[in-house]
Amino acid sequence: MNIDFANLQLQYKKYKTDIDKQIELVLNKSNYILGEQVFELEKKLKKFTNVKNAISCSSGTDALLLAMLAIDIQPGDEIITTPFTWISTSETIAMLNAKPVFVDIEPDTYNIDSNLIEAAITKKTKAIIPVSLFGQPSDMDNIQAIANNYNLKVIIDGAQSFGGIYKNKKDSNLGDISITSFFPSKPLGCYGDGGAVFTNNNEYAEKIKMLRVHGQNKRNYHKYIGMGGRLDTIQASILLAKLQYFEKELVDRQRIANYYTNALSDKFETPVIRKDRLSTWAQYTLKINNRNYVQDELKKKGVPTAIFYPLPLHLQECFKYLNYQKDDFPIAEKACSKVISLPMNAFLTLDQINYITSNLKKYI
Ligand SMILES: Cc1ncc(COP(=O)(O)O)c(C=O)c1O
Repeated sequence: MNIDFANLQLQYKKYKTDIDKQIELVLNKSNYILGEQVFELEKKLKKFTNVKNAISCSSGTDALLLAMLAIDIQPGDEIITTPFTWISTSETIAMLNAKPVFVDIEPDTYNIDSNLIEAAITKKTKAIIPVSLFGQPSDMDNIQAIANNYNLKVIIDGAQSFGGIYKNKKDSNLGDISITSFFPSKPLGCYGDGGAVFTNNNEYAEKIKMLRVHGQNKRNYHKYIGMGGRLDTIQASILLAKLQYFEKELVDRQRIANYYTNALSDKFETPVIRKDRLSTWAQYTLKINNRNYVQDELKKKGVPTAIFYPLPLHLQECFKYLNYQKDDFPIAEKACSKVISLPMNAFLTLDQINYITSNLKKYI
């Protein structure tokens, strides 16, 4: 059997008629930049998330930049975040000459440990960026309470969690600003780079709309230093086609995660989702000791796996200047040495899951 990790090919085949029709509309109109489909998508994203403002943009990374520019992050400001995430979360902080300040994670959810945040706050702290890792929102009540107490902003990196839920609210509808990514392999992906910024704050929304078109408030007049950060119309049209099927995909991902957990929980540390949350299952991640051996053996059997992430951010070469040391964040470091993610997409069949889990059990 040959298993596909994200199975974008099969997804395209299933939605081909809708996707091709949407792309053709754009090609026929040549409205490639900020065409009407971009605004139609934003309307639908607003409806899906129940957030007042949804602004599409060029990627999840750019969405983080736009969010930080909107809250006016300045050089030297400190932003508290997790060391166990994709580089974008702190790369963008550093790009603005602000300082990422890491806080260790919870061992079971892999999200930032909100009980450790307060100790990391200084006079320079301006914001907290929790990441909804693998699709599960962080401990938002606690994080928001700390932010309120110290007058900090909260930007949620929901790149992996579009559709994720915390206490009956979409992940995009929490914090001051929330972002997501439409990278192809994300739960809702386009066919290139894409992202979105969500906020209930109309002032931030107006600023972000200007920032994504070079800070223009009207053509050729630039109120802010901004960027070319638009989502292109073809990507918006693909997302419009796929959004119709997204709720169903989330249900299917949950069902598949349940199958995995039922099959594996007797032998493995399976994912923990808190009772007040729903994950989008961007990844289904286990912790195992003999990861490399298991990964090699599964590969021989046609089962691809992935490591998110092998090295925590505080030990990355690019962050040497922050002077963190090994053992500074032991939970994140331990996670990096043990995690392995299994194939996850809405189209995995029971036969495929049985094949994956029975093979996996042979090698531990
Ligand atoms: C947690 C997290 N933040 C940010 C990003 C950046 O998103 P993009 O690849 O769309 O720039 C990603 C993408 O992998 C991510 O997983």
